Amino acid sequence: MKATIATLPGDGIGPEVMVETLRVLDVIADKFGHDFTITEGLIGGIAIDETGNPLPDETIATCEQADAILLAAVGGPKWSDPMASVRPEQGLLKIRQHFGLFANLRPVKTYPALASHAPLRADLLEGVDILIVRELTGGVYFGQREEMNDEGSAYDTMIYSRPEVERVAHVAFRAAQKRGGKLTSVDKANVLASMRLWRKTVVEVAEDYEDVELDHLLVDACTMHLLTRPASFDVIVAGNMFGDILSDEASVLAGSLGMLPSASLGSERFGLYEPVHGSAPDIAGQGKANPIGMFLSLAMLLRYSLELEAEAVAIEEAVDAVLADGLRTADIARKGEDVATTGQFTQAVIAKLSA
Ligand code: IPM
Ligand code: MG
Repeated sequence: MKATIATLPGDGIGPEVMVETLRVLDVIADKFGHDFTITEGLIGGIAIDETGNPLPDETIATCEQADAILLAAVGGPKWSDPMASVRPEQGLLKIRQHFGLFANLRPVKTYPALASHAPLRADLLEGVDILIVRELTGGVYFGQREEMNDEGSAYDTMIYSRPEVERVAHVAFRAAQKRGGKLTSVDKANVLASMRLWRKTVVEVAEDYEDVELDHLLVDACTMHLLTRPASFDVIVAGNMFGDILSDEASVLAGSLGMLPSASLGSERFGLYEPVHGSAPDIAGQGKANPIGMFLSLAMLLRYSLELEAEAVAIEEAVDAVLADGLRTADIARKGEDVATTGQFTQAVIAKLSA
């Protein structure tokens, strides 16, 4: 197949994990006979430095001409003054909104090879396989806001409409149907009006999915249950901010934030794919970055936007096999274990793919 992928390397470790991921994509193209055109655009801090805008119009145009977007990471200390009027993260929020990417899929699973590395007891982690579906273009991230005014107050409003909740709930229910048939909806309906609307709407959507077992958890309780009984979750659906927080918490179950991929989807096949991790400026340029989150994001791109399931599985299996062989990047190595560089880890994945 022919497809165009817009790549946005961004900041920090972003460019280095992107380079390695494109090496993996090359191997996939060869092995399965595809013709991928790779374009590139600026986003985040580097875009601010070069154009003054964290998401320049040229980048949007590049992405509009592509079948999918692969993004690495944005941000860094250079641009992190919270009072600055232009910040790298604005580029991320704007691109999600521009393309109507309202459903953010964040799968979290534990790797048997890493179970002893995670801070939770290995027996609790057995069989953990969770899909977090985070609403991505609404809620408090996109409500009304006022920066601090003269009276010394500031506000953000949390707004949800029924259609916004319905569409992300449908994504979550359909995912649950294809997986373990369970959906946990997370809210704060005991306190927030917007979250009572959330719960009521999810209950209504549930009527279309009698084969899915639905339960509700308040977000504070959910944070606890994620640590005490992680293996009992299947699909979790949550609003923008709660989903953001829960997905970082859940990443601990996988052993490292560096392992987790994500897909941000709208109502078409087009999507944006990015690792859950940030730009890790402290280790940038040292060959220490874990490229797995980015490789698995590429796998999700192949699966969801290009419908290349076998290619996606090939990448996932190659990563599994390399981990099973014992190769470790710094973030997932235990004391005394050999540490592979980003490039060495990639080479091992490529070797599995080419075998
Ligand atoms: C994420 C990040 C972003 C978010 C930040 C960088 C704006 O934490 O993708 O989870 O809050 O959505
Ligand atoms: Mg986050």
